[in-house]
Amino acid sequence: MSDAEGTEGRGRILVTGGAGFIGSHTIVDLVENGFEPVIVDDFSNSDRGVVEGLAAICGRPVSCYEIDCGDEDALRRVFESAGPIDGVIHFAASKAVGESQQKPLLYYRNNLGGLMSLLQVMGEFGTRDLVFSSSCTVYGQPESLPVTEETPRAEPASVYGATKRICEDILTDVVASGAPHRVTLLRYFNPIGAHPSALIGELPLGDPQNLVPIILQSAAGIRGPIQIFGDDWATPDGTCIRDYIHVLDLAAAHVRSLDWMAEQDETPLVEVFNVGTGRGTSVQEALDAFERASGRSIAREVGPRRPGDIEQIFASCDKVERVLGWKAVRTVEEAMRDAWRWQERLGSR
Ligand code: WQD
Repeated sequence: MSDAEGTEGRGRILVTGGAGFIGSHTIVDLVENGFEPVIVDDFSNSDRGVVEGLAAICGRPVSCYEIDCGDEDALRRVFESAGPIDGVIHFAASKAVGESQQKPLLYYRNNLGGLMSLLQVMGEFGTRDLVFSSSCTVYGQPESLPVTEETPRAEPASVYGATKRICEDILTDVVASGAPHRVTLLRYFNPIGAHPSALIGELPLGDPQNLVPIILQSAAGIRGPIQIFGDDWATPDGTCIRDYIHVLDLAAAHVRSLDWMAEQDETPLVEVFNVGTGRGTSVQEALDAFERASGRSIAREVGPRRPGDIEQIFASCDKVERVLGWKAVRTVEEAMRDAWRWQERLGSR
């Protein structure tokens, strides 16, 4: 990473969606590693209080611009005023699978438009390095597991998944056209947990859709028993299997990606990485891990399968370990402990 004049340390990194769940935890890792992050967020799916939480954790304010990435002029003004941008981590996107089926236009406009606007402005300002937030959703239900980066992408099962696949294609095509970008596509599995300080964590606005925020609210008495979406899957305990990764581990993978790109030569590149733990955990096992971590018992009921759910997926992490030298180091139980600590603090707010 070239250290542009006026930036201390290892470079100024624009983080779109930097007030979101994964974005905010990545801001902390960037600061801890000597980078200067600049948050861009429209706060449509994040809370402004996150910026204060980040200042408390980082011991200094973090620069933040409230704009929509799809607004090219606003983004241009950020690049002009923030100072030279040495790299970008692009999180900003709509990400609720169910909602994407009801609001396809919003998802295509926000997710594709935001990326295209960002690429346009990065090109104007000569910013080359980009880490893109992709998803294991692009694999659908893989035929064999663990899933590798060579596993063919499936027909998207949701509009959300389609936007992730198309964004990957946009990036690949833009670089193939001669744009001088170095791009890493990080395919996340299931991010969970929170910062151990409990000053930042997952803050679902409205009714949560994902398992762990629902577990937390059930354990906090905010909602009733957990509905297990089917126990008749072809898995050892009949419940779906996922690769749950601590958000702190996931954040570290982004920062390692920036360093890895800076270590390469100037040749444009697009490199895909699965970012998971390599271990599958069933819904029942996730619930058991939460009970061990929190000391709370969770009421469970078995209900019907959720439309669109796949049976099981977990990552092969061979490539990310071999190429980036990164691997997840935290367990599901540690993530549940941190998540519960965050929920307890939320509950007391
Ligand atoms: C996990 C498991 C459910 C709630 C989604 C996105 C994916 C990624 C991660 C962004 C499933 C089961 C859940 C409940 C349940 N996001 N479950 N009862 O669907 O694996 O992935 O989030 O990249 O793209 O699709 O996550 O947390 O919704 O579900 O039994 O009340 O928990 O069936 O097996 P999912 P999830």
